[in-house]
Parts: sequence; structure tokens; C-alpha cells
Amino acid sequence: MGLATGNSPTGMYKYLAKAANTGEFDSSKIRSYNLDEYIGLPGENAQQRLMHHESYCYFMIQKFFGLLKHKFIETSLPYGALIDQKRLVKELETHTGDWKKIGVNAGKSIVIKSNASSEYLAWIRSEVLMGYARKIRKAGGIDIQIIGVGGRGHVGFHESGIPFSGSRVMLVELDDNTVTNAIADGHFQSKQECPQYAVSMGAELVYEAMTVVLLANGERKVEPVAESLLGDPTHDIPISYGQIYAKKGGDLIYVLDKVAASGLLSNKAVLKKKGVKIEVV
Ligand code: GLP
Repeated sequence: MGLATGNSPTGMYKYLAKAANTGEFDSSKIRSYNLDEYIGLPGENAQQRLMHHESYCYFMIQKFFGLLKHKFIETSLPYGALIDQKRLVKELETHTGDWKKIGVNAGKSIVIKSNASSEYLAWIRSEVLMGYARKIRKAGGIDIQIIGVGGRGHVGFHESGIPFSGSRVMLVELDDNTVTNAIADGHFQSKQECPQYAVSMGAELVYEAMTVVLLANGERKVEPVAESLLGDPTHDIPISYGQIYAKKGGDLIYVLDKVAASGLLSNKAVLKKKGVKIEVV
């Protein structure tokens, strides 16, 4: 399974834990891979950063893994906590030829070159980023991937404006909008406290799963959800990659409340033309 953090999947995690604990499925046969993890949470070392109450690792233990009577075989999150943000910033500043930023909006992907002269950046590239992609590949890929939707339609921390192509596991500089939402949702008190970077699966890797289930509710999601299916796929709305995925035969399921679905429900004809099936329950 590919898993996501945020408010959107927490109800499902409770439900799944209950189903596993009452024997509806065997949780001890599952491996899981999360979408993303912050870099730059407070802490002097990786252990402390991982145990910070806003780390996605902590979130997953609290909201899902900890509730399971029979634990998964293995759970993995991108290795963002291993990166020391101060060191990262310093290495980026002193080795400007080692990397380039890509993306047309506020959030960027920092692409580290294969011949990076900084040992630290080379390590991030091969062990943190490619290492996570390797781990997923070794397991045979992801069967079912759960995703939420970020402010401008991002998936994980594949921020709006980052190209689809080459977006497997990325080092990301967060979009202001993502930081603003994290503060608005009460995760951090201020911009200074909020991490500025993350490690994240990109759309290309997310949508390699056999089935992708997108969960969204509430007003903030109306626009990205509607735009992701009504218009043409665009890197401005990373979840619109789902259209390319579905066209190639991927199994894409949106589970929405009435509010998040409102933009789609008022454009049923366009959806029908695109072959989208709607089920109202
Ligand atoms: C963050 C996470 C995303 C998540 C999004 C929305 O940006 N990196 O994976 O989908 O928040 O979270 P929520 O479900 O709380 O709205």
C-alpha cells in the first residue's frame, strides 16, 4: 500500500484498523510506503526529528500503525528526517553547480546532478531519493495508493508547477501556499517554525500504482478536484496526472464528500464525455 498523511485519510485509517483488528483482512501481510516526509523539523538529530509530533512518521504511528493488532510486515516513509536542513542549505549555497531548481510556480523540485561534487548532496541523491524509489521497486511496486489533495492540487509534496516528467522521488522546496495551509491547520505556529523542504514521491511514481484512491472533503478542495478532471492535464495541478494514468489503463477512484465534489457534479456532461463514472451514495 502507498499511504498519505493529512486530515483526509484519518477516518479511513480508523476504519481500516478496525477492519483488520476484527479479522476482515490480514494486516500482517502488508508493506506500506508513504508519500512524503518533511525535512527541517525541530531536532538535533534524525531520531529527534522523526519523533517530532509533526513528523509524518509520528502521524502514521498515531493514526494508523499504532492501532493495528497485527502490524504490517514493514512500513516506510521517505527518509526526510535523515537530512539536516541547515547542512542542506549550506551545501546548496556552496555547491551551486551541483543542482538546479525546476518548477514554474512557488514550489520547486531541487534536482541534484549525478556528478555532484558535494558528498552530502550526492548522498541525498543516491540514498535518500533514489534509495526510496529502489525500495518500492524491489517490493514489486505499489498495489493500492491512497492520496489526498493539497491546496493547489498537489500530491504528496509534488507541488504545483513541478513537471511530471522525472518526478519519482524528489527533494522539494515547499510552496508558500503549502506552508500557509500547514499553519492555518494548526500544525505550525509560524513560517519560521514550518519546514521549508520535504522529500516526496512525485506524480510519475504515485500514479504507477495499480489503483489510486484520492480522498477529499471540504471547500478548500473544490477547485483542485474539479480542475484535475475537467480541464486538460497540467503540471499546475499535479493530481491532473490522474487523467494520463487513467487513459493508460490505471484504476483511478475519487472518494469525495458533496462539498469537494460540487465542481464536478455541476459539470457531469464533461465528465461523461471523458468516461468518468459517477456514483452518488
Ligand atoms: C500536505 C501533504 C499531502 C496532503 C495535503 C492535504 O500537503 N503533504 O500529502 O494531501 O497536505 O492534507 P489534508 O488532507 O489535511 O487537507
